[in-house]
Amino acid sequence: MKIGIDRMAFATTNDYLDLVDLATARGVDPNKFTIGIGQDRQAVVPASQDIVTLGATAAKKLLTPELAKRVSTVIVATESGIDNSKASAIYIKHLLGLDDFTRTVEMKEACYSATAGIQFAKGLVALNPQETVLVIASDIARYGLNTAGEVTQGAGAVAMLISRDPHILSLEETTVSYTKDVMDFWRPVYASEAMVDGKYSTNVYIDFFKQTFTRYQQITGRDLADFTAIAFHLPFTKMGKKALDALLADRNDEVADRLRQHLTESQAFCRQVGNLYTGSLYLGVMSLLQNGQLKAGDRLGLFSYGSGAEGEFYTGILEPGYQNYMNNVKEDLANRHQVSVAEYEEMFNGQLGMNADDVEFDTRNDPLPFVLKGQKNHQRLYERK
Ligand code: HMG
Repeated sequence: MKIGIDRMAFATTNDYLDLVDLATARGVDPNKFTIGIGQDRQAVVPASQDIVTLGATAAKKLLTPELAKRVSTVIVATESGIDNSKASAIYIKHLLGLDDFTRTVEMKEACYSATAGIQFAKGLVALNPQETVLVIASDIARYGLNTAGEVTQGAGAVAMLISRDPHILSLEETTVSYTKDVMDFWRPVYASEAMVDGKYSTNVYIDFFKQTFTRYQQITGRDLADFTAIAFHLPFTKMGKKALDALLADRNDEVADRLRQHLTESQAFCRQVGNLYTGSLYLGVMSLLQNGQLKAGDRLGLFSYGSGAEGEFYTGILEPGYQNYMNNVKEDLANRHQVSVAEYEEMFNGQLGMNADDVEFDTRNDPLPFVLKGQKNHQRLYERK
């Protein structure tokens, strides 16, 4: 039985910051951001958006009433949780109007957990082939104003349906997971911004990619020529290049050219929104599929990485007509609204964060279908527009 990704949808906020503006405001050469880091724009988050509203918006784009009836389980993968106890999946299930006889849970391991969510969903479907699992990767990447990580911030959610006879990507058997206790990036419970050892984190990422890919080769006997493309977790686009270069070095044959070309296609959307943490790898897959010319039967490699740290390399085979089962991300990104650096800074500081006070947000200008109205008696108030 084939099991895999049946539908995908991406949602981000309506506001973005141009990183040339950010570079100018921070006194940095813009080429460092656009070439050195490889980012052009980043999503900016208004107070009326969080991982629940973004996750629900992404899921709404792919759920027809018929598909909604089939969802047995909702898994939300995030490291930007809004509650230490209650799962964001419950709020999202409610906003989407899903049946009460639904299983809901939230998962965490930095940027990696959506991959665990997909693997667990695959297991559920293998045991109960009639089940469809909704996996939502939703995050807000925050490093702080005037930090080295600021240029790599971003926000958004990718929703995916995992089912039998999938329309986009059938997952293959072999997967390689790799975990070590590493302090490259973390966020203590009292902090709303991440702590990061930036340069170290990029080295750990590359090491984990090489470890998992080498083990995968040993198990399967496959090599790079067996892949049409490899999609990477993209905290910023240059990271994908660093990882692929670590394997290709100065190799310049047809295989290397193909992998480099497809890497560029997979980076296009990340350049426009920044790091999505859990969703970044999957936005990369959507970017590859919408900007490249791939065909049914092509094998994709997926490298998932979450700081702390855990990596997984796994693969899938593209299904015929995969193009018809995703929202048009290019179109959505073209319709966003640009904010100035001053507006971005105000919005950055205006998020609910650790604030325990009652508050009401002005949601009139927020065009997304779900909004956070505010907070009362320590309870978040969501609204379907
Ligand atoms: P930095 O110190 O500002 O940057 O931090 P840099 O000085 O290393 O420069 C970056 C690149 O720009 C370099 O290129 C420079 O040469 C180049 P590289 O050597 O890397 O190829 N450069 C220029 N290029 C053109 N024109 C110029 C120019 N000047 C310099 N004028 C860093 C960069 C990524 C460390 C920082 O942004 C950071 O800490 N980011 C956050 C951490 C991160 O994203 N780590 C990635 C791996 S860990 C991961 O992926 C997990 C994560 O997603 C979290 C999770 O799992 O939850 C982060």
